[in-house]
Parts: sequence; structure tokens; C-alpha cells
Amino acid sequence: MSALTCRGLSRSFGALRAVDDVDLTVAPGARHALIGPNGAGKSTLFRLLTGRMRADAGTVGLGEHDVTSLSEVRRCRLGMSQTLQHSSLFASLTAAETVALAARRHDGTRIVPWPRRQPRVGTRSAELLGLVGLADRAGDTVPSLSHGERKQLEVALALACSPSVLLLDEPAAGMSPAESARLLAVLADLPSEVTVLFVEHDLDLVFDLADRVTVLHLGRVLLSGTPDEVRASDAVREAYLGTSRREELFTS
Ligand SMILES: Nc1ncnc2c1ncn2[C@@H]1O[C@H](COP(=O)(O)OP(=O)(O)OP(=O)(O)O)[C@@H](O)[C@H]1O
Ligand SMILES: [Mg+2]
Repeated sequence: MSALTCRGLSRSFGALRAVDDVDLTVAPGARHALIGPNGAGKSTLFRLLTGRMRADAGTVGLGEHDVTSLSEVRRCRLGMSQTLQHSSLFASLTAAETVALAARRHDGTRIVPWPRRQPRVGTRSAELLGLVGLADRAGDTVPSLSHGERKQLEVALALACSPSVLLLDEPAAGMSPAESARLLAVLADLPSEVTVLFVEHDLDLVFDLADRVTVLHLGRVLLSGTPDEVRASDAVREAYLGTSRREELFTS
């Protein structure tokens, strides 16, 4: 049984076929990367998978469930969680309060206008912050966090609903090499039962983390294979960067 699948998934914007007849199979526990040049359709495919956007055609499966006709919220309840390419956090909250809000929302604890002592939520928030390497930043407000730490916080928010499948759209965007390395460690340490599908332009991070890579080009799957198969592909090199020179695409 796959963790996440889609078959024949398509979405057009006017004459542009942004996602064009895409089949994808993500195995349970995989660290599956989705790569491709700007405008390849990666974020649109994510929106179709999560239900944020309706597909023109095709099906989406989450474990044993056909979720094609389900809303984003219902897919989330069935175990699909995401971070977005562009997202926003509440500036006035601390890291712990931000995660607590998501944890309360998920477990049905009443959200109150003024924080009270809610030990169960507090424990869960601390656990989530620990998972993403932010245990020592719990009391700091969002604006005081670095860009990389905010991205780590977004991963904690996505984990708050205990997902079986986590979709991350460019988690390392705008990060310094040090921040990117820290995020890689966080993602590598996520519980193995959480399946991860991630879009990323940082190919070093992709090839360090992924056990499977799907390359999207002009809305279509160009290749889906092991990292080594993708590295070795002339078609990927030429389509991805418009170059056949291996050293311009892969540093290792
Ligand atoms: N809501 C929309 N309306 C019209 N066109 C859109 C919309 N969303 C995406 N597109 C177009 O669809 C194509 C695919 O966009 P998408 O954002 O999925 O690409 P991407 O692979 O995520 O790119 P990037 O790497 O730059 O994030 C692009 O040509 C984009 O301009
Ligand atoms: Mg995108």
C-alpha cells in the first residue's frame, strides 16, 4: 500500500497545462523529492494533492483512502499535512504559543482568548519544538527567530496534526548553508513512520535526504527514480537547467 498516489492528475490555467497527466507513487516512509525548473508545476501539483486546489482530472489516494473529492481539511484529518512555499506566522506569538495553537486545534482542545495552563498541550508543544530543534527558542517571539528557525517552526506546525504524510514546498528556500544543514538534520531525524514528499531547489539537500526523486518538467513527469538514476539522466540535465553539462547541475 502506497502512502500517497495520484493518477492522471491535471490542472490547466487557460491554455497553460500547469500539471499534465501526472502519476506519482510515494512509498510509506519515503523521503521523496519533487524537483524541476521554475514553473514546472511543482507547487500546483502540491495544491492538487492537498486539496487546496481542485484538479481538472485525475485521482488522489492517501493510504487506503480515495481522497479525490475530499476537502483540504478532510485530507488533513486523514493524515496529510503541509508547509507552503510562501507562508505566514503570527508575529505576536512565541514559538511555543504558535505550536500550541496548532496542537489545540488538532486535538480539539478549546482555543481560549487568553492562554491558560493546559498541561497536555504544553507537553505536546515542547515535544514538537524538540522534534524540529527549537526547544531552546520556545519563549521567543516569531519576529526574533531567524529565517531558518521560522521554517523549522513551520515544520513543527505541520507535525502538530500527527500526519502520516508531510508535504514540504521548498522548506530550505532563502536559507544560508548553515540553516539549510540544520534543516536537513531536522528532516533526517523525523520519525520514520512519517512519509515526506518535498519540493526543493537545493539539490545538495535533495540528494542528501531523498531516497526517491521525481522530476517534473512542463507539468509532466520527466523521470521518477533513485537519486543515482536522476543524477545519471541526460534528459534531466538538459530539461532541468537547459544544460547537458553534468557539473553545472550536480556538485556531487
Ligand atoms: N493560480 C494560477 N493562475 C494562473 N497560472 C498559474 C497559477 N498558479 C500557477 N500558475 C502557472 O502554472 C505554472 C506552474 O506554476 P507552479 O507554481 O506550480 O510552478 P513551480 O514548479 O512550483 O515553480 P517554482 O519552482 O518557481 O516555485 C507556472 O507557469 C505558473 O505561472
Ligand atoms: Mg513552487
